[in-house]
Amino acid sequence: MGVIKHLILLVTTFLMSLLSFTIEARSHVDIFSLRKYGNIVSGADVTEALKDAWNDACASDRPSAVVIPKGTFKVREGEFKGPCKSPIEFRVHGTLQAPKHPHGDSWITFAYVDRMRLSGGGVFDGQGKAGWEKNDCHKRIDCAKLPISLRFDFITNSIVRRITSLDSKNFHVNILGCNNLTFQGVNIIAPENSPNTDGIHIGRSIGISILKSRIATGDDCISLGDGSKRIKVNNVICGPGHGISIGSLGKYNNEEPVEGVIVNNCTIINTTNGVRIKTWPASPVAGIATNMHFSDITMVNVSNPILIDQEYCPWNQCNREIPSNIKINKVSFKNIRGSSATPVAVKLICSSNLPCEEVKVANIDLVYNGIKGSITSECMNVKPIISGIQNPPICSSSYTTASK
Ligand SMILES: *[C@@H]1O[C@H](CO)[C@@H](O)[C@H](O)[C@H]1NC(C)=O
Ligand SMILES: *[C@@H]1O[C@H](CO)[C@@H](O)[C@H](O)[C@H]1NC(C)=O
Ligand SMILES: *[C@@H]1O[C@H](CO)[C@@H](O)[C@H](O)[C@H]1NC(C)=O
Ligand SMILES: *[C@@H]1O[C@H](CO)[C@@H](O)[C@H](O)[C@H]1NC(C)=O
Repeated sequence: MGVIKHLILLVTTFLMSLLSFTIEARSHVDIFSLRKYGNIVSGADVTEALKDAWNDACASDRPSAVVIPKGTFKVREGEFKGPCKSPIEFRVHGTLQAPKHPHGDSWITFAYVDRMRLSGGGVFDGQGKAGWEKNDCHKRIDCAKLPISLRFDFITNSIVRRITSLDSKNFHVNILGCNNLTFQGVNIIAPENSPNTDGIHIGRSIGISILKSRIATGDDCISLGDGSKRIKVNNVICGPGHGISIGSLGKYNNEEPVEGVIVNNCTIINTTNGVRIKTWPASPVAGIATNMHFSDITMVNVSNPILIDQEYCPWNQCNREIPSNIKINKVSFKNIRGSSATPVAVKLICSSNLPCEEVKVANIDLVYNGIKGSITSECMNVKPIISGIQNPPICSSSYTTASK
């Protein structure tokens, strides 16, 4: 017995010292200052220095931080790849500036990193003005591909805090294949008329949160592509831009379901849409979008505050005669107030082939102050469950109308 007791004591002591060692290692962060990697003066091209600093930090056995000082630095292109040995931080205090005339479809990419933190209050300046007139990807397929400013590919358990994306040439932020990634206190800025400058686009990712952020841009503030699961948007101010959008879905034949979206406590200002779900007609294969909830949202002068559009077909790129094959169910719009810039404040246009199911609409209090008639709603192939305030009256005319 004595021997076993002794053994247990020994093992416990060993484990305790291991634990304290880990805690000590965690609280210590090795700093990889960009200044150690070259002549870092404001205006310098730091592409190579940044690459070297990342590689050293990523190889560190202890938690590390790449630190970019105040100042403006040029970065031609950056690909920051893991896996890294320990948690890693990318701390930007200054401004990183993209080239005016780039090539490729990405500017800065973070890929295959676990436990990453992007922070520092700095700015990623995409210098988009030089490219916007060339971007016609919203109209054509064989278009000039301009770089996305910030890509997050296969990033896990990570946080992006207090950074600014300015004037991206294409999307500001693209999230692909990520799991457990939070954006908090992020600022996204581009002019209202800049084409395709989606704020944050999420695709094929699970557990993405966008919190306490400000997005002003020329396209969707937030757009969710296929395979978006467990997405949370909270306390976001959006506008100008095209609003918060799920879709478009149903254009391609290998799409994954959208499942579990909560958009709560947001303000949407001067946008073309508020909250919307859009799917293409004539989807090549059947798909599903389910469990999507929008609540406590203030609309200020929004053109289409509440919108389900299963006949989404811009620039006539599809056959409108064939209904959408995407099933939409379990949707709620709750406590939505403010002003609409057009009389049709609520539009629920579902597929004649697969009507929307379990759509709840509660406490909608919108006003329209224009001269084009009184505030109204349009519905097709949906029988929503309605409760509370109804300004406008929801689907008050016939519930199911034939397709136009
Ligand atoms: C998600 O990531 C955060 C940030 O790294 C971490 O604190 C948290 O434990 C992760 N959650 C899960 C379920 O792993
Ligand atoms: C809701 O958003 C407002 C401002 O956008 C913020 O002040 C408030 O703290 C948020 N509330 C919650 C519960 O997140
Ligand atoms: C909305 O846009 C108009 C015209 O561009 C502008 O004058 C107004 O200040 C904007 N409103 C808000 C609340 O930003
Ligand atoms: C409302 O939005 C419209 C179109 O987006 C804009 O022209 C108008 O100036 C805005 N009005 C206000 C009061 O902001």
